[in-house]
Amino acid sequence: MDKKLVLLLEDQINKEIYSAYLYLGMSDYYLNEGFDGFAHYFKEQAKEEFEHAEKFIEHMQDLDLDYSFKGIEGVSNHYEDLEKPLLVQVEHEKYVTKLINDLYELANTLNEVPTKLFLETFILEQVEEEKRSRDLLKQFSFVKDDKSALLKMNSQLSKRD
Ligand SMILES: [Fe+2]
Ligand SMILES: [Fe+2]
Repeated sequence: MDKKLVLLLEDQINKEIYSAYLYLGMSDYYLNEGFDGFAHYFKEQAKEEFEHAEKFIEHMQDLDLDYSFKGIEGVSNHYEDLEKPLLVQVEHEKYVTKLINDLYELANTLNEVPTKLFLETFILEQVEEEKRSRDLLKQFSFVKDDKSALLKMNSQLSKRD
C-alpha cells in the first residue's frame, strides 16, 4: 500500500484516541460542575471514539500494515461555560469528518478497494456524529436560560448508552 495512505491510517488511530481524550476532559468538566448527565453523555462518546480507534487498528492488522502508537496531545478539563464544550464538539466532529473524507479520497485515487469500503462506514458514522453534536448544541441553546429545563436535559442525557 502507498506509504502516505498507511501514514494517514496510522494517524487516524491517534486522532480517534485524541477524540476520546477530548471528550473525557469534557466529561470531567461537567462532573465538576454538577451535571452528571452531560458528564455521562461525554463518557459514552469517549467510549465510541475508542471503538473507532480499535476499528482502524483492526483494519491495519487485517491488511498486515505496519503502524505505531503515537503520543496523545493533552486536553483541557476546564471550560469557560456549559455551552463551550458543545461548541468545541461540533467543530471537532467537522474536523474529523474532513480527515475521514481526505483519507477516502486518497484510498479512492489509489484504488485501495478494501480501505475504501472500510472508510465508507466511517463517512456515514461521521454524518451521525455531526448530527448528534449539532442536536445537542441546539437543545442546549433552547434550555440554557431555564434552570428546570436544563436539569431535565441533564437527566435525559444520563440515560444515553
Ligand atoms: Fe470517531
Ligand atoms: Fe466522533
